[in-house]
Amino acid sequence: MPAKIFILGGTGFTGRLIARHLLERSDAIITIASRRLEKAQEVAGDLGRDRPGRVRAAHADAADAASLRTAMAGQTLIVVAASTTTYVEIVARLALDLGVDYLDVQLGAKKFAYLKSIAGEIEAKGRCFITEAGFHPGLPAALVRFAAEHFDKIETATTAGYVSFPKDQPYSEAVDELVDVFRDYQAQVFTNGYWTNPKAYQIRKIDFGGDIGPRTCYSMFFEELGPLPERYSSLRETGFFIAGTNWFVDTVITPLVFVLLKLLPKARRMTGRLLWWGMTRFQKPPFRTELIVQASGIHAGQKTQFEAAVAHRDAYELTAIPVAAAILQYLEGLGRSPGLWMMGHLADPRRLITDMKRMGVKVRAKVE
Ligand SMILES: NC(=O)c1ccc[n+]([C@@H]2O[C@H](COP(=O)([O-])OP(=O)(O)OC[C@H]3O[C@@H](n4cnc5c(N)ncnc54)[C@H](OP(=O)(O)O)[C@@H]3O)[C@@H](O)[C@H]2O)c1
Repeated sequence: MPAKIFILGGTGFTGRLIARHLLERSDAIITIASRRLEKAQEVAGDLGRDRPGRVRAAHADAADAASLRTAMAGQTLIVVAASTTTYVEIVARLALDLGVDYLDVQLGAKKFAYLKSIAGEIEAKGRCFITEAGFHPGLPAALVRFAAEHFDKIETATTAGYVSFPKDQPYSEAVDELVDVFRDYQAQVFTNGYWTNPKAYQIRKIDFGGDIGPRTCYSMFFEELGPLPERYSSLRETGFFIAGTNWFVDTVITPLVFVLLKLLPKARRMTGRLLWWGMTRFQKPPFRTELIVQASGIHAGQKTQFEAAVAHRDAYELTAIPVAAAILQYLEGLGRSPGLWMMGHLADPRRLITDMKRMGVKVRAKVE
């Protein structure tokens, strides 16, 4: 029997793409769910053309447990691709009550803390919950694990992201969640065997190569980085760095966002709009999203360097494709174990990268 996958936020940029890749690569039956039934029906109609019986539409509001309960009943997996971190408790509780597995693509300290608080219950009920899926979060730990496969002893593994949108990139509710990330900003990196202070960010020049070249990058912590030093005892250095956006955002808007969040903590949308305006108005090519890992260590008794990068010109594709690739592993049972997992730690990294490439992500890797 094909799995039934319920995509909350299936009308959004990310949710729609996850649905399309899953329809192309699996036999799952997909439900597009959103607060607007008509919109969900329109998207389901588009995606389901030439695929009879594969795509359904449902009304569901994460803020309203009753609507969600009715819509989610009988599903195999709920994919949360909606900007609904505030309602994590409602969604996760319902998944547990209804016996539905769970995957989210969201970034949010409070969401993560809540899921951790119910991790024991998730495991006891035999459910598989996958959190922090996508590009970032999602890929940094997966890329470090991919790099580690090329060493007998991995010693350093730095990951870095480059994101550049063209002027006409539309605003998405995800930017509101990005503002929350600024509010809870954590910047620690693991260096010389210790985690640095979460409040003190590090600045590093990282060379992405090609037409991106060297960029000034700022450290940013993702939960998936935390377990890496324990997983690889030889690892002395790891972390994630995000490339500066453009001079105006880096020197004027970003400091202003931190001040606004202190003075007007409720002005989330206004702050998000300001950030988005700066990120799109002053940006220069190359327009794409790229994630790189630069690692060093020992292989066959020799000092070895490894570098890999994944890139797509559409940031939403680079978010949706790893999620779809991880779900393919889940559907095959490879990535379905009871408990709470982060995508970057559950998915088999080599298979993930191979599937991402098949779905249109540019991948390069070199060993020296
Ligand atoms: N991991 C990563 O690398 C990564 C990267 C980018 C984005 N994200 C995350 O992906 C998520 C979606 O981002 P996006 O850019 O695709 O957003 P988007 O295009 O603005 O779509 C948001 C979606 O959420 C739905 N939604 C909002 N509130 C809802 C509610 N109360 N109940 C049900 N559905 C609701 C909207 O549906 P209706 O308006 O039709 O109800 C819409 O489908 C965000 O959480 C974002 O942080 C993750």
